Amino acid sequence: AQIEKGGYDHFMLKEIFEQPDSLTDCLRGRLEPEAGILTLAGVEQNLSAFAQAKRIVIIACGTSWHAGLVAEYMIETLCRIPVEVEYASEFRYRNPVIGVGDVIIAISQSGETADTLVAIEKAKEQGAFIFGVVNAVGSSISRISHAGAYTHAGPEIGVASTKAFTGQLTVLAMMAMKIGKEKGTITAATYQHLIKELGQIPEKVKNTLAAHLKVKEVADKYADARDFLFLGRGYNFPVALEGALKLKEISYIHAEGYPAAEMKHGPIALVDENLPVLFVATKDAYYEKIVSNIQEIKARKGKVIAIVTEGDDLIKGMADDIIEVPETDELLAPLVSVLPTQLLSYYIGVARGLDVDKPRNLAKSVTVE
Ligand code: G6P
Repeated sequence: AQIEKGGYDHFMLKEIFEQPDSLTDCLRGRLEPEAGILTLAGVEQNLSAFAQAKRIVIIACGTSWHAGLVAEYMIETLCRIPVEVEYASEFRYRNPVIGVGDVIIAISQSGETADTLVAIEKAKEQGAFIFGVVNAVGSSISRISHAGAYTHAGPEIGVASTKAFTGQLTVLAMMAMKIGKEKGTITAATYQHLIKELGQIPEKVKNTLAAHLKVKEVADKYADARDFLFLGRGYNFPVALEGALKLKEISYIHAEGYPAAEMKHGPIALVDENLPVLFVATKDAYYEKIVSNIQEIKARKGKVIAIVTEGDDLIKGMADDIIEVPETDELLAPLVSVLPTQLLSYYIGVARGLDVDKPRNLAKSVTVE
């Protein structure tokens, strides 16, 4: 098993550090930044289904559902198509309004999650076009979909999803770019800009992970926390949800993720000097808004940990701890901003002496409902 872990203590850590390579694999044969080319066969062969879609419904569970939430922001921004993101388990049991002209994107690492599988079977019967964003090649969801794009992250062993999530974000970004270009809802300049930015992502992921010791330091400081709050806005709102989910899974610390502004409607009541609040606050269109949210937490004596864009002195002056990530387009920011949350959960889980690869009560693939 030690050999399988490639010298790492756990599969989870190995998989976190594999991300520069798994994302390179995901982009291979699809993205050529120098030539300004992006090809995504599954989308290109079905461009009219996407371009004419009245709406897109994304169906997934767990971490894959969080990737879906990021995709909602990406697709609505670049393609101007309304997007709904559904928990597969809810979608399948109500009587959803779905039919011809609707495009379903099913997101799944394993391709075997029972709720997701049944949900798309149902939508398919009702005439929707099903597109799978799946990691496991040849899995049930990939077979039942009309078309799809693999994430090519390689086998993921750790129960908590890490490299599969960033692979999903990468495929979904490429989809939104392709569809937006086809529909003419983005300019050629924006399209080229995103191609260039996406090409730099594996290197930026590598640089972010190289600073892992800073995250370990923060993890050791907060490993005894009872609760944790994760806040973000815009593209980083789903990252906050994912950060909280990961921490719960791996460390058994109670954690909640919230849109940073929505915290005033509840979670702010929890804030005192014992509550760590992690802000995912990279520089984007929401930056000034999130800075005032940080001030609201500091005014109530909460401990602020902030994931920020390199060189952000303003938040550095306000937060108790900061973790820097490289600058990128806001649409791609989750690809770097999620990495410190993965490492934080891992190091806190290890500090608490837990089995991070196999947390209690969880399964890698939930094939029963
Ligand atoms: C389980 C796993 C999660 C995963 C979820 C959805 O709960 O522990 O890591 O996000 O299932 O799985 P899928 O394979 O459909 O992405």
